[in-house]
Amino acid sequence: MAKILLGLTGSVATIKATELARALQARGHELVIAATSHSQYFLVAEEKAELVQVSLEFVTDSEEWPGNSYTKGQEIPHIRLGEWADAMVIAPLDANTLAKIALGLSDNLLTSMLRAWDFSKPMVLAPAMNTRMWNHPFTALHLGEFAKLYGWKSESSQKSAENNSSIKICESINLDSTGLQIALPVEKVLACGDFGMGAMAPTEAILWALDNVLENRRA
Ligand SMILES: Cc1cc2nc3c(=O)[nH]c(=O)nc-3n(C[C@H](O)[C@H](O)[C@H](O)COP(=O)(O)O)c2cc1C
Repeated sequence: MAKILLGLTGSVATIKATELARALQARGHELVIAATSHSQYFLVAEEKAELVQVSLEFVTDSEEWPGNSYTKGQEIPHIRLGEWADAMVIAPLDANTLAKIALGLSDNLLTSMLRAWDFSKPMVLAPAMNTRMWNHPFTALHLGEFAKLYGWKSESSQKSAENNSSIKICESINLDSTGLQIALPVEKVLACGDFGMGAMAPTEAILWALDNVLENRRA
């Protein structure tokens, strides 16, 4: 069992966060949930209360920047929680946070955690976005840039970027068996009504990807 940091971002797939958090808890994992401001738009009060209940902590930018000003000695969540965690799962990972973590931007609690992350610890990313965003060349580029931080080979990156395929790049990252796994999105009718690729992977697939990276860590 592991200490898991679960990141939530501003995708409509955040409505599945309670299901995933419950499943992680049922497997005996300890959970801290870090939610971006926009992710909270997708949680009704009961869901947020449930996430608070199943986790040790539910942290947001308010916990990162408490009060009106900094107090000397004040603890800093993005450092403390990164040290605490054995692994991170970002589910859903939206296009905006993907772009930020690929470039090293750190303008909120979740991206600051990533900017201070220890890449010897495993990670699962579960991208979720509209098909147009998924097929946009930035998705493959940003996934590739981030995966390089886990030692993914740049030659394969170059090839997949040429193919301009987000799926191909994910498959290549997963095959490389570094500490990073991408839970592949699926094709279905999306929240916007479009049919296509980009819906977040089912909870079971995210759990499977996590088992996989935790297993590799032990090997
Ligand atoms: C109703 C609605 C649904 C959205 N769904 C998604 C989504 O599934 N994937 C995505 O990448 N962006 C989605 N967005 C856009 C993000 O919420 C937006 O880029 C936001 O700035 C992300 O902030 P964050 O990455 O800090 O959470 C959605 C926006 C709205 C208004």
